[in-house]
Amino acid sequence: ATLDGRGGVLLPGFVDLHTHVREPGREDTETIATGSAAAARGGYTAIFAMANTAPVADNAALTDAVWRIGREVGLCDVHPVGAVTVGLEGKQLAEMGMMADGAAKVKLFSDDGKCVHDPVLMKRALEYSRGLGVLISQHSEDPRLTVGAVAHDGPTAARLGLAGWPRAAEESIVARDALLARDAGARVHVAHASCEGTVELIRFARSQGIDITAEVTPHHLLLDDSRLETYDGVNRVNPPLREERDKLALRAALAEGVIDCVATDHAPHASQEKCCEFSQAKPGMLGLETALSVIALTMVRPGLLDWRGVARVMSERPAQIVGLDDQGRPIEVGEPGTLTIVDPDAEWTVVPDELASKSRNTPYAAMTLPGRVLGTVLRGTVTHR
Ligand code: NCD
Ligand code: ZN
Ligand code: ZN
Repeated sequence: ATLDGRGGVLLPGFVDLHTHVREPGREDTETIATGSAAAARGGYTAIFAMANTAPVADNAALTDAVWRIGREVGLCDVHPVGAVTVGLEGKQLAEMGMMADGAAKVKLFSDDGKCVHDPVLMKRALEYSRGLGVLISQHSEDPRLTVGAVAHDGPTAARLGLAGWPRAAEESIVARDALLARDAGARVHVAHASCEGTVELIRFARSQGIDITAEVTPHHLLLDDSRLETYDGVNRVNPPLREERDKLALRAALAEGVIDCVATDHAPHASQEKCCEFSQAKPGMLGLETALSVIALTMVRPGLLDWRGVARVMSERPAQIVGLDDQGRPIEVGEPGTLTIVDPDAEWTVVPDELASKSRNTPYAAMTLPGRVLGTVLRGTVTHR
């Protein structure tokens, strides 16, 4: 396929609800500019920048600064996610209303970087978020069950002598936050669902009328804990790579719509933070530039999604969840387009040094993947080709 349209697939611009750009604080690993460039190359026209920066994005001055810098860069819309609590202790609610009213119009809030461990505080945060936006059940894990944990608590971790992270750590918090959202009359979004049981809990919560949505990462759809054999730190991520049956359940849930959308959890880290021994490596993987190809491989090729379905999980549903009105939908005649053109048949080999991201921690190095983003357009401006 070529850019003149022959054989290409035209999709609404992708929307990523879960991106870590490291500005402010760790600009050596990613900036709003390099993260935006990686996003454009991956077909994204909007990303949601997580709050676990240094300092944490817990006030309107900071969230507005992130939005403004993103606008100046101009390669994609960078929507800041606001932290729900203030300070590193995370004991006091942040001024979510101020962030929602600011220039950035914050629509998504999270406990990222300082997980809300206290259910009473989480309930108050959910009550506060009503009418403002969606609260992310961000880390979706019970920290008391994950002390020292580095890998999925299963046979592989046991054999390799790695401290295990049980499924119950995620499942119990998803159940908790769903029930708190019910009582608070609030909306909750489950970040990076990684377990078969999480899918069943979301299905149950929805059957009870709870306003719950969920995302899955490309890496949890493609990889599992069999990758740990090499002790390569690139495979360390939160939540951890699970087992084959979790992977298959997540794919089926995304096809069915129980899981609403794909989100990358793009988490850049410096090489020296990833090249050490597995348990010492920082958790997180790059995702923006490979997401479409991993979805093509895990969902389109096996027939679980057609390209219409890809538009739903990469663009429409994420845009609807946060209430973006100018993205994630087909363009009208005469309107400056916000779109992505994909060659579904092209294959490419991932070369870390060729990525636009400032970091190199892709788990797909040297892999040949199907589906190539040929071009990305943001409101009529070509941001990648
Ligand atoms: C996240 C990061 O690097 O910011 N990493 C990750 O593995 N998802 C933080 C985190 O969730 O631990
Ligand atoms: Zn997380
Ligand atoms: Zn994350």
